Amino acid sequence: MNTADAITYAAATAPQGTCYRVLMWEASALSQENREAWSEARRELLSRMRDAGIKGSRGLLGQLEIELKALTVKMIEEPLTKASRAGFSFARVEALGEALRAHDAVLAYRLGTAAAEVLVQLNGEESLDDMLTRWQAATPGMLWCTQPHIQALTAAEGAAWQNESRSDDNEIGTLEYTPAEFHHVTVLLNEAVEALQPAEGKVLVDATLGGGGHTEQLLRAGAEVWGIDQDPTARAAAQARLAEFGDKLHVIAGNFRNAAEMLRKRGVEQVDGLLADIGISSPQVDCAERGFSFLHEGPLDMRMNPAAPRSAADIINTAAESEIADILWQYGEERASRAIARRIVQERSKAPITTTTRLADIIASVLPRKGKQHPATRSFQALRIAVNDELGALEALLQSGLSLLKSGGRFAVITFHSLEDRAVKRYFELVCKPEIDRPEWPAPRPNPAYAARLVYRKPITPAEAELTANPRSRSAKLRVIEKL
Ligand SMILES: C[S@@+](CC[C@H](N)C(=O)[O-])C[C@H]1O[C@@H](n2cnc3c(N)ncnc32)[C@H](O)[C@@H]1O
Repeated sequence: MNTADAITYAAATAPQGTCYRVLMWEASALSQENREAWSEARRELLSRMRDAGIKGSRGLLGQLEIELKALTVKMIEEPLTKASRAGFSFARVEALGEALRAHDAVLAYRLGTAAAEVLVQLNGEESLDDMLTRWQAATPGMLWCTQPHIQALTAAEGAAWQNESRSDDNEIGTLEYTPAEFHHVTVLLNEAVEALQPAEGKVLVDATLGGGGHTEQLLRAGAEVWGIDQDPTARAAAQARLAEFGDKLHVIAGNFRNAAEMLRKRGVEQVDGLLADIGISSPQVDCAERGFSFLHEGPLDMRMNPAAPRSAADIINTAAESEIADILWQYGEERASRAIARRIVQERSKAPITTTTRLADIIASVLPRKGKQHPATRSFQALRIAVNDELGALEALLQSGLSLLKSGGRFAVITFHSLEDRAVKRYFELVCKPEIDRPEWPAPRPNPAYAARLVYRKPITPAEAELTANPRSRSAKLRVIEKL
C-alpha cells in the first residue's frame, strides 16, 4: 500500500462517533506531496473529532499520537532493532494487531526497505510483498508500507549503510545508527512548546535538537529555529525529519555550553526563546554501540559527541581510584562508590575494562541486586554525566542563556534528574529575585543578578497520560523564566 492510499484509508475509517481513530505518520518519511496530503488528513481528523463532540481534541490527538508512538516503539521498533537479532517472530505482528484492535486504533507504519529486507530473510519469507500481505492480514488496523530511508542520507552515507546492512553478521545493529531509524519520544512536548510561545517572525534556539521533536512544533508554529546538538546522529536525523522547513531551520554542530558564542558567530545576537531538553535521547541509550546502557553489550563509550576526547573506558581504565569513587558519589549518589572504585581498579589490572557488560558485572559483584533497579544504574548515570561533563555544560548554558534573550524572551529547561534540576532551580530563583537578604544585613539589598521573572512557580511535570505512554518521562521537570 502506498502512502497516499494509506492516508485515504485512515481518513476514511476515522469518523466513527464514540471512538477515535488516529493515523500516525512519521513526517520524515513523506515526500512533499504526501506531506501535504497528510496535513490535510490530519486537519480532517481533528475536525471530525470535534464534530463527534470529543473535547480538547487537539490535545487528545497529540496524546494518542504519543501513546501510539510508544506502542510503535514497544511493538515494532524494539523487536526490529533488538529482539530480531535473537529471533523476530510473526507472533509480534499478531500481538500488534491485537493491541490495535483493543485501542480501536489505526496505525500507519513506514518500514525501512533495508530493515524489511532483513526481516524477509530472517523470517524465511518468499518476498517482501508476501511478508507484508501476511502482516496486513494479521493487523487489519495497521497500514504497512515501505520507504527507502536512504533517500534521507547523503549518497556516500547511503551506500555505506546499504553495504553494512546487507552484511551477514550484524544487519539490524547497523540500522540502529541510521538517522531514519532514530526514534525519540519527545517529553513535555506541548508544555515546552506552549512555554516558548512560537510564532511567525520569532527566532528561537533549541539547544538540544535531538530528533527534532520540540523543534518540529516550533517550526510548525512559524518560528525560525537554530538547533544545536553535539551528536552527529541526532543532527542527521533531525535534518532529515525537518527537511520540509528549508532555511527556517539552522542546525549547528557543537556543545550548547558555547551557544551564545556559536550564535553570535553566525550573526545572531538576541533571540525570542531558548529551550534545553537536557540529557540523552532514547536512541543514544538504546543503541548498544554507543555504550550508554548496561543492558546491552557494547563498547564502554558514552560520548554524546563521538569526537570528544575522553570515553567512559578512558576514565574507568586510567583515572585514579579516588577520582572514580568521587564521580560515582557526586554524580550517582552511589553509597558504595569507594568499594566499587576499588574493585574496578583490581579488575582493570587483570585486563582493561572495555565493555558495558563487563563493567556492569564488576559493579554487581560488589553490590548485590536489591529490588527492581540494576545495581549498575547509579554508576552508569554518574559515568555518563562525567564523560559528557553534563553539569558543567548546563551551568555554562544557564550563565549565558539570558544574555542571548531579548526582553520578554523565554528560557525553558527540561531536566531528568535531581542534580540538574537543582542547578536550574537555584539559578532561576537567583535571577528572579529583585532583592537579596542575609541575616547579617540590616535590610535587603538589590540583587545585581535580577533579570527575569518565573513563568511558573512550580516545575511542570508530565501528565498522567504521558507517564503511562512514556515511562522515561517520569523524572522530567520543566522550568521556565522570562527575561524582564
Ligand atoms: C533529550 S534529547 C533532546 C530531544 C529533543 N528535544 C526531541 O524532542 O527530539 C537531548 C539531546 O541533547 C544533546 N545534548 C546533550 N547535551 C548537550 C550539550 N552539552 N551540547 C549539545 N547537545 C547536547 C544530546 O546529544 C541529545 O541529542
